[in-house]
Amino acid sequence: MLPDITTRADVELLVNTFYGKVREDELIGPLFSEVAQVNWDLHLPKMYDFWENILFGTGGYRGRPMPPHFRLTQQHPLRPHHFDRWLVLFYETVDQLFEGEKAAEVKVRALNIASMMEFRVEQLNNMNEAAQ
Ligand code: HEM
Repeated sequence: MLPDITTRADVELLVNTFYGKVREDELIGPLFSEVAQVNWDLHLPKMYDFWENILFGTGGYRGRPMPPHFRLTQQHPLRPHHFDRWLVLFYETVDQLFEGEKAAEVKVRALNIASMMEFRVEQLNNMNEAAQ
């Protein structure tokens, strides 16, 4: 039986393991490493705050999730199959490490945010294509 997500350390383990998979993924890894050239020392702590806030309402994350994804899709179109892969890796990570109420909740929250993000990014992609 696996533990549920209950502490900041659990969130850090989830985020670190997830982005470890992302970085090795041949489809979406290069979007982070080559296109966006992410500074992981800054990105990972931001993502700890983001998910901790979503799960436990800690208020640590004060950023805006959308702008980096709008910027990224201007450099390299971010498409539904990228979001699908992101979700597969996220679910796989959660299921590998945790089970319980919060583990189930974090997957639903990820799906909801990813769907909204995919929709908004796709609108921008379509506008860009129409303008060409
Ligand atoms: C294939 C899909 C995705 C790609 C390629 C992607 C890529 C990125 C990149 C390049 C950044 C900027 C990192 C930096 O330079 O600091 C970023 C930031 C972020 N991403 Fe994503 N992302 C994806 C999906 C998602 C999803 C589904 C979520 C949420 C469920 C998410 C949440 C965030 C958040 C919260 C930030 C930080 C925003 C801020 O600056 O406050 N991303 N992402």
